[in-house]
Amino acid sequence: MFHQFKIESYLTEHEKNVAYNYSESGVHPIKIGDFFELAGRDLAEISNIEMDYPNVRGKVELREKIASLYPDANLNNILTTIGASEANYLIAETILKPGDELIALQPAYMQLPGNAQNNGITLKTVELIEAQNWALNTDQLMATVNSNTKIISIINPHNPTGHILTQTEVNAIIKAASSVGAWIVADEVYAGTERGDTPRTPSFWGQYDRVIAVNSMSKAYGMPGLRIGWIVAPEELMPQFQLRHEYTTISSTMLGNELANIALDPEVRPKLTQRARELINFGFDTLMDMLAVHNDTYSVVPPEASAMCIVRYDLPVDSLEFVNRLVHEKSTLVVPGNCFGLDRHFRCSSALPEVYLREGLANINALVAEIKGQSK
Ligand SMILES: Cc1ncc(COP(=O)(O)O)c(C=O)c1O
Repeated sequence: MFHQFKIESYLTEHEKNVAYNYSESGVHPIKIGDFFELAGRDLAEISNIEMDYPNVRGKVELREKIASLYPDANLNNILTTIGASEANYLIAETILKPGDELIALQPAYMQLPGNAQNNGITLKTVELIEAQNWALNTDQLMATVNSNTKIISIINPHNPTGHILTQTEVNAIIKAASSVGAWIVADEVYAGTERGDTPRTPSFWGQYDRVIAVNSMSKAYGMPGLRIGWIVAPEELMPQFQLRHEYTTISSTMLGNELANIALDPEVRPKLTQRARELINFGFDTLMDMLAVHNDTYSVVPPEASAMCIVRYDLPVDSLEFVNRLVHEKSTLVVPGNCFGLDRHFRCSSALPEVYLREGLANINALVAEIKGQSK
């Protein structure tokens, strides 16, 4: 049986057909012109980019810059991919063999677990507990891990909850993985989206020897359309990933490599991080302000990171019906909680321009008022 990627299938249907789209999980995408201005570069540079294939492993200078973000990594630990999506796909294809099991935390963005299931791999789940601010159930993790566990799949900071694993939780995951020699695959695309003064979430890379880290330009850097991601892995795995990369995509794009290379320049990257922080902090405050209109209906565990959060609502309408009505009656899109197995919740992005955010959130509040009126 093929396991559909529920969230992406739902978004494919709706995300380009609504006036207000809060289904994105990254910070508001930056325009190329604004990016060049922020980077202090001349837009005319683009005209010199040859539309050739880039280096199949990714531009050397870019891979060196990526490697410098991880302790003791060098360019031979890095493969540039078409987004974190290809990275997660290659990892599932390369690491998992029949009979293996993968453990994923739930709820979760199901890219790696879904790819694993589609290869016949058994998925085991461990809960993040909403009533405890989405804390990891470490006892359940220890009880679930076994000699067949090949991968423990982590998203940190987490999608959809915005939870950042505490050091105690990180240690528990490492203990569980090392007890059976499993890989920790850490999808870290939301590192750099921490709220307030929370420091950048450290990578799992360097904390345990069997770590594969994944990241991309899509979320914290606001460049999902570049389609640039990467795998950081022990050097001996790289040829295995590369063999599959050559079949699936051959390479990421030349334009993506060149622009990511500018974005990760030590002079430019902090400016993008600053942009992300501002959008995230201001947007979250705006979201809270708008949700206060129905504070008897909504409840939110404030995310520690990410440009979005999970909103729980107390209404007699399931999440798919709620979001379908929102799309068709108000031209406003959020992600139905059922895509994450969380009924009567929705995921809402907030690192967006204020006017756009307020207008669409007013639509959500209007629908809630109508449902409350109807259910009286
Ligand atoms: C946790 C996680 N991993 C990977 C991806 C895919 O990102 P990319 O655009 O880098 O392919 C997403 C996108 O939402 C995500 O949330």
